[in-house]
Amino acid sequence: MIPFGDPSASYQTHKSEIDQAIKRVLDSGWYVLGTEVDAFEKEFVSFHGKDFHAVGVANGTDAIALCLRGLGLGIGDEIITPSHTAVATVAGIEQAGCTPVFADIDPVSRCIDPQSIEERIGPKTRAIMPVHIYGQPAAMHRILEIGKANQLEVIEDCSQAHGAEINGQKVGTFAKLSAFSCYPTKNLGGTGDGGVILCRSKDLANKIKSLRQYGWNEHRESTITGFNSRLDEMQAAILRVKLRHLSDDNEKRRLIAQKYNRAFEDLPVTLPSQNTNELHAMHLYVIECERRDELLNHLRSKEVGASLHYRLAVHQHAAYANRIRGGDELSMTEYFYQKNLTLPMFPQLCEEKLEHVISSLTSWFKNGNYP
Ligand SMILES: Cc1ncc(COP(=O)(O)O)c(C=O)c1O
Repeated sequence: MIPFGDPSASYQTHKSEIDQAIKRVLDSGWYVLGTEVDAFEKEFVSFHGKDFHAVGVANGTDAIALCLRGLGLGIGDEIITPSHTAVATVAGIEQAGCTPVFADIDPVSRCIDPQSIEERIGPKTRAIMPVHIYGQPAAMHRILEIGKANQLEVIEDCSQAHGAEINGQKVGTFAKLSAFSCYPTKNLGGTGDGGVILCRSKDLANKIKSLRQYGWNEHRESTITGFNSRLDEMQAAILRVKLRHLSDDNEKRRLIAQKYNRAFEDLPVTLPSQNTNELHAMHLYVIECERRDELLNHLRSKEVGASLHYRLAVHQHAAYANRIRGGDELSMTEYFYQKNLTLPMFPQLCEEKLEHVISSLTSWFKNGNYP
């Protein structure tokens, strides 16, 4: 089966550098929050080309919760976010004690729809959390305008979009604070859990550094109530290696996407949006089509590991159903969830396998399976 993503291929590609990094950490005798984390944080900031600050944390869900806690948000504060995201976005909001509110998506970008955000703003709304879903940048300029006009914080969930850009500016640098997951399948993924926060203000970064470790000050005295959300040295050392290759790896993803786009342009499928002023991080290549489940079964019978991202929107999961404001007005999201289908996408996807995915999909349509 050709997988839809392949973290082990990423390790094999960068094996000698990663093995050296792991050995360096093992030999150092210092395993959590040390020089590798410090170096990763600095390198992550310089990758983004802005005078920001980074804070390495244990995972992307904690990164979201820590951003909110860092801003002083918590019980009673509403955060507008899409239901079309990983459950983790909403779990992170609730972990901070905040209340998620769902806005619908724009059917072209599949990211949060600015107009729907405006419709959801209420007296308890404190922040907007757009998600750059699949690596597609959200409409950040418009979202920041809405944030400013309504005195709302904006926090970017960049977990699927490391290295994506709008007009040459990297996502994660539009808002005051941004959260990234470094889970192994991500464009910048380690070999275990990991996450990082990008932050415009040094004071806020220092507060979040304290929050990630029991709210400690430099004397290990808890001055605020915090979490344990430390990034370990092994993951930081591996992420430093992966970061050096991130732009090249993203370019390889985009080349694969171009080949898919060309091969599918005349088929009755909706392709990911292609905007000339943006760099898509191509975390996932997701199409939309009729008779999706039949096509999924066909692809699987051809050993193509197509899958659904996601099978359910967050408001359709039992844990979130019928209890989140906005969850009953998500027509675009619900429409998308009947049609979405994810095809294999990772930098090491070779020409032969790519051709196999393409011919397996196109043959299904050639065989008369038009809607
Ligand atoms: C959009 C989005 N937000 C947040 C997360 C949370 O990341 P983690 O799994 O590292 O907690 C993920 C990863 O699954 C994600 O895809």
